[in-house]
Amino acid sequence: MYFCSMSEPKRYTITAALPYANGPLHIGHLAGAYIAADIYARYLRLQGKDVIFVCGSDEHGAAITIKAKKENTTPKEIVDKYHAIIRKSFEDFGISFDIYHRTSEPVHYETSQEFFRILNDKNAFEVIESEQYFDEEAKQFLADRYIIGTCPKCGNENAYGDQCEKCGSSLNPTDLINPKSTISGSAPVLKKTKHWFLKLDEQQEGIKKWLEETSEKNNWKAHVIGQCKSWINDGLRPRAMTRDLDWGIPVPPEIDGSEGKVLYVWLDAPIGYISATKQLFKEKANNKTEFSYNHRDFGNVNEEDWKKYWKINNDENDKTELIHFIGKDNIVFHCITFPAILKATEQYILPDNVPANEFMNLEGDKISTSRNWAVWLHEYLQDFPGREDELRYTLIANMPENKDSEFTWQDFQNRVNSELGNNLGNFVKRVSDLLHKFYDGVVPEYYGSQTTEFDADAIMNIQSIKTEYENSIDSYRFKDALFKCMEISSLGNKYLQDTEPWKVIKVDINRVAQIMNIAVSFVDVLSDLLKPLLPKTSKKIDNIFNIVVNNGYQFIPSGTKINQSQILFPKIEDEQVQAQIEKLNKSKAQQAQQISPVVEMTNALQPAKPEITYDDFSKLDIRTGKIIEAEKVPKADKLLKLLVDIGIEQRTIVSGIAEHFSPEEIVGKEVSVLINLAPRKLRGIESNGMILMAEDANGKLYFVNADGVSAGNIIK
Ligand code: MF3
Ligand code: ZN
Repeated sequence: MYFCSMSEPKRYTITAALPYANGPLHIGHLAGAYIAADIYARYLRLQGKDVIFVCGSDEHGAAITIKAKKENTTPKEIVDKYHAIIRKSFEDFGISFDIYHRTSEPVHYETSQEFFRILNDKNAFEVIESEQYFDEEAKQFLADRYIIGTCPKCGNENAYGDQCEKCGSSLNPTDLINPKSTISGSAPVLKKTKHWFLKLDEQQEGIKKWLEETSEKNNWKAHVIGQCKSWINDGLRPRAMTRDLDWGIPVPPEIDGSEGKVLYVWLDAPIGYISATKQLFKEKANNKTEFSYNHRDFGNVNEEDWKKYWKINNDENDKTELIHFIGKDNIVFHCITFPAILKATEQYILPDNVPANEFMNLEGDKISTSRNWAVWLHEYLQDFPGREDELRYTLIANMPENKDSEFTWQDFQNRVNSELGNNLGNFVKRVSDLLHKFYDGVVPEYYGSQTTEFDADAIMNIQSIKTEYENSIDSYRFKDALFKCMEISSLGNKYLQDTEPWKVIKVDINRVAQIMNIAVSFVDVLSDLLKPLLPKTSKKIDNIFNIVVNNGYQFIPSGTKINQSQILFPKIEDEQVQAQIEKLNKSKAQQAQQISPVVEMTNALQPAKPEITYDDFSKLDIRTGKIIEAEKVPKADKLLKLLVDIGIEQRTIVSGIAEHFSPEEIVGKEVSVLINLAPRKLRGIESNGMILMAEDANGKLYFVNADGVSAGNIIK
């Protein structure tokens, strides 16, 4: 039950990041944005709120053209192929978008170009000229990735304009020796080009104030605020909103100098939320469903109604709340760039919350599409058909809501077998089995029996769990909400254990009828609260108990005929887990050659990471050390095996620096060592710690050392 107040929004616009249509979806996508968004949308819908939930494929940008080149085909084929695969995975996993649109649709082109015009008219852009490589044969400017040449660091002749994949150096196109265009093979020339830059610097104060007020009022997640602050404190700079490419949305042709220019993908993609909404109402107004679904009844609407979900409206009683669900790599675009775009139009509302998630790792490693280190959703369903909710449960239970988290197959098995199987599934089946045993599967009537302490306790607990559950979802703590549901089934199991209807049946039939009615009401609450979290399971429970949903209330009255319960969550066998782990290990073996164990390359242009506490810092045990021995690891181009004196002992450390240093030149080097990093096996050698390195803008590595201090001193 909720009460309408002045501050209660009239409607909700919920968006989930548009995934790039350059590959299939994996568990990281679901855990990062889509399950959270889906839970929230379903929850609000169940409360009868006016919600739209929109998404679609992000089909422009280098992510797409590069994939097309890799697969030797056209960008169009790539986006068509992956749009279909992605859309299907979302459907299979029951992500309840009202529409899943595409940024290649005409309505999106129109909307994006209209935004460009508005921004241009409002003087939000500044045109800046710079020099970039141009292919004179192909007559086009070259994105960094379209230029190859010799790496100035390692001599690799096929380094890209932004990175050498052999030595990992990050490069600028002008760093390459003998640059060549990958399009024509000719040598590119530097040529002046103009781009439209969004004057973020001029918006600095406005965005800062809006961010402070909104994040405070709506209690944003700390890690999201942390990232925003670090960008704002760095000072916002103008950002290019156009590119010289032939894949993308053209800058409106009537604008001077627009020829050959397309919108930067990060201008076009978020506008996709708006064009998806336009398309949604177009379809609903015309009773069509090309891109939209039937997750709610829109009633009689007209095409213009999309505006209610996006445009500023000064009526306090007619507010729309806008919530973006995204992963943490998208925070700056949704908390700064896109709001700045919306704000500059003076027509559109700004987000009320951006409850971004962090990343989910997989079996100790970062999920990576290019390294094939992922659990692909379509493959999961081949291996575990019909078991969407088991994965969904595990992903919610480990949702990276406030810090990075991890998926392991072992954890999946444990959770399915014990939490879902022994707790939830068991309770539901037990209630149904007892009803069949005692009453031929019909919920019995009972007569004014006194409630016992057990009953009163259980009923009270359920009430408070419900309240906590609602508070959790209201504040985007979905993991907590899930565990509240599990508490209900634990309570239910305990209630049956305490009241022992199988014994009481011999002495007091009326009391058993009462117990069973109470147990049935627990099942009812459970299926109700599970609806947003595990929709397929909730539906199964509803089917077993013939639960009728009426005006948002559901109940199981006496006299209801209950079906036999199947086993809701069959056991996950050890062999199944083993097979999955082997599959992953295979892809690891295939990629081993290419993996660099050097700490994720730090790019000097990256913004500061979110704030940490002194406690976080003090967990790192960093000491001065000295390299005593160094040798190449056979058959691994990148690895050196080092023996390092860290004062208290000598440690073996495997370091991915072989392409930067020869063993001879580093013996005797003073270094800094993180000594309490969990051991890790590389090429069969256990590495016990990590050598700290600094990396310059060209990817050159430097040892970090402490001015002549001897080995074994603490760095703090
Ligand atoms: N395609 C981007 C990514 O996968 C996300 C785009 S989100 C949107 O990182 F806001 F631009 F839609
Ligand atoms: Zn190189």
